[in-house]
Amino acid sequence: MTRSPDLDAAYALDGDADARQLYADWAESYDATFVQAMDFRIPYHVRDLCLEHSAQGPLLDIGAGTGIVGELLSAAGLTPVDALDLSPEMLAVAEAKNVYRNLIAADVTRPIPLASDYQTIVSSGTFTHGHVGPSALTHLLDVAAPGALFVLSINAEHYAAHGFDAALAALPITDLETRDVPIYGPGATGPHRGDLTRMTIFRKAA
Ligand SMILES: C[S@@+](CC[C@H](N)C(=O)[O-])C[C@H]1O[C@@H](n2cnc3c(N)ncnc32)[C@H](O)[C@@H]1O
Repeated sequence: MTRSPDLDAAYALDGDADARQLYADWAESYDATFVQAMDFRIPYHVRDLCLEHSAQGPLLDIGAGTGIVGELLSAAGLTPVDALDLSPEMLAVAEAKNVYRNLIAADVTRPIPLASDYQTIVSSGTFTHGHVGPSALTHLLDVAAPGALFVLSINAEHYAAHGFDAALAALPITDLETRDVPIYGPGATGPHRGDLTRMTIFRKAA
């Protein structure tokens, strides 16, 4: 049976192999059929919060996808940015935008094969239904420098359903704050157009 690569299919993902297949199918059309069609706002929230919190490089973009966040960070002078994603096809689209220093194909639910050098770790749209849960947070902390800034979007329903409050409380972090903001802009249509993401900002303990 064929499946259209879209938001409903993404929210219903069932494991890493399923995610790899969906995003392989979606990579070439993702920017037009999702980012533009749904007026996707999370990358802008990530950029604005990075500027507000004086983010420093190097930055790591978790679940970078086709590179929308990398484009915005680079344009704002926040560099260098590395991209990490499960999907080589999504990373290939990101690479063509020439905004990332390094592109890393890796699964963030497993230990990440990188040094603990990152001053800022960001993520847009990857902590959500069918995607990544709170167990990945320890792997992110492992590649962050002491005092590093985190700016993560976590779908608000996913946050509550998967116990992110308790997971965050158990981590060696400081300065935790959350803000619920719209995922989509006024141009969005469909049943998810009013959904919220919880922008979750903190620092790794020094
Ligand atoms: C909704 S897209 C968001 C892409 C991009 N951040 C944006 O804002 O447009 C989710 C991305 O997370 C990636 N992803 C899903 N599970 C992952 C995992 N376990 N490890 C790393 N990346 C993952 C997918 O391949 C996909 O590119």
